[in-house]
Amino acid sequence: MRSKVTVVGAGNVGATTALRIQSLGYADVVMVDVVEDLPQGKSLDMLEAGPVVGSDVQVTGSNSYDESADSDLVVITAGIARRPGMSRDDLLLTNMRITSSVTQEVVKHSPNCIIIAVTNPLDAMVQNVYETSGFPRHRVFGMAGILDTARYRTFIAQELKVSVEDVQALVLGGHGDDMVPLVRYTSVGGIPVTELMAEEKIDQIVQRTRNGGGEIVALLKEGSAYYAPSAAITQMVEAVLLDKQRILPACAYLEGEFGINGLCVGVPVKIGANGIESIMQIDLTADENKALQSSAASVQELVDVMREAQASAS
Ligand code: APR
Repeated sequence: MRSKVTVVGAGNVGATTALRIQSLGYADVVMVDVVEDLPQGKSLDMLEAGPVVGSDVQVTGSNSYDESADSDLVVITAGIARRPGMSRDDLLLTNMRITSSVTQEVVKHSPNCIIIAVTNPLDAMVQNVYETSGFPRHRVFGMAGILDTARYRTFIAQELKVSVEDVQALVLGGHGDDMVPLVRYTSVGGIPVTELMAEEKIDQIVQRTRNGGGEIVALLKEGSAYYAPSAAITQMVEAVLLDKQRILPACAYLEGEFGINGLCVGVPVKIGANGIESIMQIDLTADENKALQSSAASVQELVDVMREAQASAS
């Protein structure tokens, strides 16, 4: 039997992700959204692409979670997206309420699923989804690191005029302006990037990576990035459905790893059929560790704001 993936939020990120999964043909896809007829219309349109792209998977749209029942994997993209001048953090409380209600429905209808959260501000939303779900930590994680790393790899490949496939890199920390691209772990065809590029140029690329989402928001004027985000989500979905045991950066709930306890932050993990199979602990230099801790502190601030809002609401 084919796997079943539900994508909650049939907007730019959700619908593009559904389309990518459909064209790979691994899983039936259900899109759920609050807007009447929107997921139904988009899913029918995708389904009708099936004969052309050679995909037999079912794509269904719904305004209720009944269709999503017993999904193997649920991707949460529901929420509002950034507009120019907004930071990801400006979305916090609105998207917290949305992801809380979505998670309750997901847990009720698919109690054994793996959840990949994508809604921003990413790390705080993963924390919210993890806590709301009551799932073990290996079944709830977030997509940000693959996207941040992809942006970083793109800029390096463009600068060096090499294939993007030959650039390997790792970005740690929260999906915010203080994310931590690890230059020491960046290589091009196995050669450390520091051998190929001046420090000043690398610094510029690191800065552009940190502002990668904002750069797209400023250009689009309405809404935020979705082509690269959906590609990154799909890589995670594939790692789970095909049990690939891939080493990828993801936002995971840490229990002491990297000296961080009780917080969701981006770290390298191994992803397979069980979700997060393990967290890859690597040694960091004092400077790298300082940058990671500072990024985690920014996530903690948002989590504290969420906790206050939750306490005053109850
Ligand atoms: N349940 C289901 N869907 C919802 C809910 C809800 N409670 N609230 C909002 N949505 C839907 C909206 O109706 C919309 O179709 O979520 C969708 C969001 O789509 P877009 O506005 O196009 O936003 P998108 O670009 O897809 O980004 C979604 O992912 O990358 C992040 O920052 C981004 O938080 C944002 C999220």
